[in-house]
Amino acid sequence: MNPVSHDELLQRARQVLPGGVCAATRLNRALGHPVYVRRAAGARLWGVDGQVLLDMSCSHGAALLGHGHPAVLGALAQAAEMGLCCSSDTEYHVQLAEWLCRLIPSAARVRFTNSGTEATLHALRLCRAATGRDRIIRFTGHFHGYHEYTYIGGHPPLEQLDRAGLFRESAGIPEPMTQFIIALPFNDLPAVEQALKEQGEQVAAVLLEPVDFNSGGIGPQPGYLQGLRELTRRYGTLLFFDEIQSSFKKSTGGAQQDFGVTPDLCTIGKSLGGGLPLSAICGSAALMDRFKPVGDVQHSGTFNAPLPSILGGLAFLSTITEPAFYPELLVRCERFYQRLDGVIERLGIPVQVPRHGPRFGLMMGLDHPPIDYRDALLHRPELMLEFVRRTVAGGVYFHDYGGGPCHHGFSAAHTDGDLEQVLGVMEDAFKAIAPLF
Ligand SMILES: Cc1ncc(COP(=O)(O)O)c(C=O)c1O
Repeated sequence: MNPVSHDELLQRARQVLPGGVCAATRLNRALGHPVYVRRAAGARLWGVDGQVLLDMSCSHGAALLGHGHPAVLGALAQAAEMGLCCSSDTEYHVQLAEWLCRLIPSAARVRFTNSGTEATLHALRLCRAATGRDRIIRFTGHFHGYHEYTYIGGHPPLEQLDRAGLFRESAGIPEPMTQFIIALPFNDLPAVEQALKEQGEQVAAVLLEPVDFNSGGIGPQPGYLQGLRELTRRYGTLLFFDEIQSSFKKSTGGAQQDFGVTPDLCTIGKSLGGGLPLSAICGSAALMDRFKPVGDVQHSGTFNAPLPSILGGLAFLSTITEPAFYPELLVRCERFYQRLDGVIERLGIPVQVPRHGPRFGLMMGLDHPPIDYRDALLHRPELMLEFVRRTVAGGVYFHDYGGGPCHHGFSAAHTDGDLEQVLGVMEDAFKAIAPLF
C-alpha cells in the first residue's frame, strides 16, 4: 500500500466521521491529526504515512501484552472456528468468570460488559438498587466513563474546584444529574468523613480509581484506602473501586491486591480482553445476584461479552499467570524508571512521574509529588504538547490527552532495547523543552 499523509486522510475522514475520528480523544492535539494506523505488532505501530512508532500509549493501557499477541490471535481464530456464537454464552464465558473469581479479591460473581463506560454505568445502578440510596461520592481528577452518572465533577477548571460537583463535563448532560454527585478531593479522608456524616444516609457508593490514572497516576496516601474501607462500612455505603485502568498493572488481583484493601465491588477492563473489547463488574454474591435474571437490576445487551473477547480474556489470563510474567515486567519497570528519574534529575527539570507498574504519568512543571487533582492542575499542557510533538518526530508515540496529565506506558512486548530507544528520545525531547520550564 502506498503511504498516505495523516492530514490527507483526515481531510477525507472529516467528510464522513465527526472530526475525522471514531472516538473524540483519538485526535492527537499535539500533531493536529490522529495517527491513522495501518498495522500494529508487539511494541510498534505503523502509520499510514509509513512511519514506524514505538508505542508508549499501548491503546490507553489495553495493549498490556503488546499488539497482536499470538495467544490473542489464536483466540480470534478459535472464535471464528466456533462460528462466533453471537449473543450466546458458552462454556468459555463460565471458565473466564471462574478464573477471575479466583484472581480478583472482591470477585465472587462477575458480569461482563464490553466497555468500561458500560461497566461503571451498570455497577452504579447496582449500588443504588442495593442500598436504596441515590447519591455517589466521587473524586476530582478521577474518570469513570462518559455516561451521565459520573461525567460530572471529574476535571473542573481551577476556578470551579470548590463547586466541582456542579461541573458537567459534556454538553447534553442534564443539570438535575448533578444532584446525585458529591465531588471531593482525593487523599483527603476528613472530607469523606464529613460528607458521610452530613449525607451518609443518601450515599450509595464511594467511587474511586484506587490509583488516579486519569490525573497522571496519583497513588493513594498510606492508610487512605484502609480509611475509606472503614468509613464506608461505618456508614453502610458501598466501596467501589473503578479498576478499569489499575487492574493487572502490577499483579493479577489489581490495585486491591497491591494495596491490600478489598472493596465491595470493582470494575476491571482495558487489557482484560488482550486488546479485544471486554470489561467486567465484580462483587460479592449477595450484591451481584441483584442483577437480573436472579434479582431486579437490569443489565443486558445483544453484543454483550462477545465470544472473541471472552477467548481473548482467557488468552490474556493464561499469559499473565505464567510465573515469570509479573517478575519480568516489574524488573523492566524498575530499570525504566531508574533511568527516567536519572534523566529528569540530570536535566534539573520539574517533572513528576507517578507510576504503577508499567503505566505512569508525566506531570510537567511540578516540583513535588502530587496528592490530588489540585496538584494535577499545576501541570503545564503546552509543555506536554511540545514533548509529544518531539517524541513522535523521534519515532516514539505518546498520546497527548489534550496536553493533560494522563497516563502512558509500555507493554510486556517492549524489550529492554525498545525501552532504551524510548528513553533516548524522551531525553532529547526533555532537553529541547528544558528552557521552557
Ligand atoms: C478508570 C476508568 N474508568 C472507566 C473508563 C472507561 O472505559 P472505556 O473507555 O472502556 O469506556 C476508563 C477509560 O479510560 C478509565 O480509565
